[in-house]
Amino acid sequence: MCGIVGILGSKPVAIDIVDALRRLEYRGYDSAGIATVENGHLERRRAEGKLRNLETRLGTEPLSGTTGIGHTRWATHGRPIERNAHPHMNDRVAVVHNGIIENFQELREELTGKGYVFETETDTETVLHLVTYYLDQGMPPVEASRIALNRLRGAFALGLIFSDDKNLLIGARQGPPLAIGHGDGEMYLGSDAIALASLTDTITYLEDGDWAVLTRAGVQVFDLSGKTVHRTAIKSVASSLLVDKGNYRHFMLKEIHEQPEVIAHTLGNYIDMAEGAVKFPALGIDLAGVNRVTISACGTAYYAGVVAKYWIEKYARIPVEIDVASEFRYREVPLAPGGLAVFVSQSGETADTLEALRYCKKNGQVIAAIVNVRTSTIARESNTVLPTLAGPEIGVASTKAFTSQLSVLACLAIAIGRARGTIDAAKEKELVKALSEVPRHVSTMLRDESFYEGLAHEISKARDVLYLGRGVSYPIAMEGALKLKEISYIHAEGYAAGELKHGPIALIDENVPVIVVAPEDELFEKTVSNMQEVAARGGQIVLISDVAKEKAGCRLLSHIKMPKAHPFTTPLLYAVPVQLLAYHTAVVMGTDVDQPRNLAKSVTVE
Ligand code: F6R
Repeated sequence: MCGIVGILGSKPVAIDIVDALRRLEYRGYDSAGIATVENGHLERRRAEGKLRNLETRLGTEPLSGTTGIGHTRWATHGRPIERNAHPHMNDRVAVVHNGIIENFQELREELTGKGYVFETETDTETVLHLVTYYLDQGMPPVEASRIALNRLRGAFALGLIFSDDKNLLIGARQGPPLAIGHGDGEMYLGSDAIALASLTDTITYLEDGDWAVLTRAGVQVFDLSGKTVHRTAIKSVASSLLVDKGNYRHFMLKEIHEQPEVIAHTLGNYIDMAEGAVKFPALGIDLAGVNRVTISACGTAYYAGVVAKYWIEKYARIPVEIDVASEFRYREVPLAPGGLAVFVSQSGETADTLEALRYCKKNGQVIAAIVNVRTSTIARESNTVLPTLAGPEIGVASTKAFTSQLSVLACLAIAIGRARGTIDAAKEKELVKALSEVPRHVSTMLRDESFYEGLAHEISKARDVLYLGRGVSYPIAMEGALKLKEISYIHAEGYAAGELKHGPIALIDENVPVIVVAPEDELFEKTVSNMQEVAARGGQIVLISDVAKEKAGCRLLSHIKMPKAHPFTTPLLYAVPVQLLAYHTAVVMGTDVDQPRNLAKSVTVE
């Protein structure tokens, strides 16, 4: 969730650290800080809030050290104030940390008992004092770090520097990712390769449990017993993935507009348009024999999985178990060996999704990962990677990754259906053709947004908003509600339209907009009935549908007219208006659209 960077440089490193942190801000932006080694002592600058505050600080109080570490924070333990900002340091050691030290209370008590004084509310400070304790026992920095690392429980990535050795940087990984960058007489450490992209394209990824000793001459990687382990350096493509906003006001808007292209690109990887057939990679399992699919993910990726449940059950006729990864991982789900388990994640680093994956692996499932970051931990721990070709997604609210995930899952549903014989060649052709039309439809829908700007003014006045949908539109209703609440901070909930009368209907009055996601499919009439129930209670209905507004049979606040499309593909299309509505509402509310409060792009803690 936090981003960490370390540089053993040949010139002052603060500017390069800030540059690397800028590319890690997606991981958190509650505070930022840098420490460098200068003439045998450690110097630090920190600032609350976004990185630009730290930059301002460095403008008036620069750092001149050639060895340094930096951090951008997503607060877990301790409020997002400067005192709790990383690096944490004393006169011997400075440390940056991403993750959670689970036994920090116990260590804190032990170290307090030994006379170490804690100044912050963070779990990270225990690492600082623990390493210092072993240094105080006379151990050299590498040994002190090794012993200290062995005592930490939890999920963490760490970077450490020492005042009396400016040729040393220590990195450690247990859980959250950590990459080592190789330069010419310089070495780097970063939470991902993109952070290091302007410095190097030669990257070594640490594995879980690794720790690394970096000097300007290179890196040695060890396991916790101190045994050397070999990790290969690879050429990273991260530098080609660096992105900017182009002419768009926000990354989120740019990413919404990239959808026709990335959906086409992703579909192109899994279907042969000319043949009208899916061309799915071997998953290491006989799809014809699969009798149950397990899917797990978090947030928006989870909603993509819920859509897939409807698709796979309808078209491939096998049951799909789906749950949010934070629940799944602890449910002790019984799994018959040989099943297919699918994990969906943009970042490929979400801690809960990764643990759900590991549970399934341990229980004999064949693992397929739908990820956007191919070098991610989830990708590396899977039997098969089914990449989404969305390119880097910078906006914290997921948009193009979601529709790319749906694109892969739609192809997976067809592939399983074909293998099991529940879909014949003609049906496959029909579904593939429907998918091939999605980029064109999305492109048409994105031509004019002025309508959403007007509607957003209405929605921005609401305190609560309900989203309703049935069948495959139910997860889109939930996704719409999530998008709205996370970037506009307006309370929103997505409900199965038929559930309305079992409770939520009590919320309806003339101040509550109700967004109804209702393509004209076999469930349309039923959703219309639920809409009437809302109208009868004065609810303000926004209908997103391909039918003419007269078919609603009640007064509408607004009607978002959708193109006619095959019912199979409606989730891909109806995702777009709910994104646009959330985006424009957030713009009206004046929130920080790309970096909404309290959130982070990559959630590597439980
Ligand atoms: C919402 C959003 C989050 C993520 C969730 C999972 O817009 O982006 O709900 O979908 O944190 O993240 P990944 O896909 O990286 O596993």
